[in-house]
Amino acid sequence: HRPAQAQTQKQTRPAILVSEKLGEAGLEVLRELSDVDCLYDLSPQELASKISNYDALIVRSGTKVTRDVFEAAKGRLKVVGRAGVGIDNVDLQAATEFGCLVVNAPTANTVAAAEHGIALLTAMSRNIAQADASVKAGKWQRSKYTGVSLVGKTLAVMGFGKVGSEVARRAKGLGMHVIAHDPYAPADRARAIGVELVTFEQAISTADFISLHMPLTPNTKNVFNDDTFSKMKKGIRIINVARGGVINEDALVRALDSGVVAQAALDVFAEEPPPKDSKLVQHENVTVTPHLGASTKEAQEGVAIEIAEAVIGALKGELSATA
Ligand code: MLT
Repeated sequence: HRPAQAQTQKQTRPAILVSEKLGEAGLEVLRELSDVDCLYDLSPQELASKISNYDALIVRSGTKVTRDVFEAAKGRLKVVGRAGVGIDNVDLQAATEFGCLVVNAPTANTVAAAEHGIALLTAMSRNIAQADASVKAGKWQRSKYTGVSLVGKTLAVMGFGKVGSEVARRAKGLGMHVIAHDPYAPADRARAIGVELVTFEQAISTADFISLHMPLTPNTKNVFNDDTFSKMKKGIRIINVARGGVINEDALVRALDSGVVAQAALDVFAEEPPPKDSKLVQHENVTVTPHLGASTKEAQEGVAIEIAEAVIGALKGELSATA
C-alpha cells in the first residue's frame, strides 16, 4: 500500500520554474509540495524553450511573460505568480486565453515601497545623491546643494491605494500638507489619515511635490505628458516608485529642461533597465535607483512566502479541479 501512495504523490508533484531571485523562506514553502527549478537571467528564447516543462512560473518585474511564453507552454502552464504587486509584465489577455491563472503578492512589499518613496522625497529635496558624488569627487559645494524644505509644502499622492496611503501617512509626519487623487479611493481612509481627496487637475495644479502610486494600465500609460506638465506649478518635484510607463519620459526631460519640473526622483522606467545614454537618467536634476522599491530584506522574505502560498494554493485548486 505505501509504495503505491508514494508513487501517486510523486506523480502529482507539480514542477515550478522560478525565473528571478526569490527569498529562501518562499522556496522552502514551494519545495514542500513541488519540484522547484531556480533559473535566473533566462533570455526570452531560453524561457520559451523550457516553459513547457513546468506547471507554474514565478517572476518579479524583470521577466516578461508574453503571449509567446503561453504559446510555448503547450497548455501545461497553469499558474503565473508575480512576486510583487504590479502584473503589467504579464500578458493577462493571453493568460486568460490559455487558461492560466495569474496571482500576485499584494501586501508584503507595501511598506518597503512607501519607505522608498519617502527616501527619494527626502534625498531629492536635499540633493543627497548629487552632493555625495560631489564630495567623493573631492569638491565641497555647500551653496550649490542648498535644498528645499518639506514642512508646509503640498504633496499630491496620485493613486491612494496601499502604497499611496502609507506614503501619505509618513508625509503627514514630516509636516506636509497631503492631498490625493484616486477615483477609487474610499473617502473614510483619506479622512482617517487627514488627506483631502481632490480631482486630477486640482492635484497637479496645486502640488509642490507629486508622488506617483498608480498601476500601469492602458488608462494610466503616459498620463504625465506635455499637457499635464504644462498645468503644474513651476518648480514642482516628482517622485515615481510605481511604474515608469505612467510618465512620458521625453516630456519629462522637456519639463526638466524648461524648469517646470525642478527635480525628479525615479525608481522605475518605461524600459528597464533604461538605455545607458538615457537623457532622463543622466539629467543633473534627476535622482535614480534601479527599481528598488520592494527591495528590503523584510519585504522580499514576506513577498516570497506570500507568492509561494498563492501559487501552491492556485495549483492545488487547479489540481483538484482537474482530478
Ligand atoms: C511590485 O510591483 O510590487 C514591484 O515592482 C515589486 C518588484 O520589485 O518586483
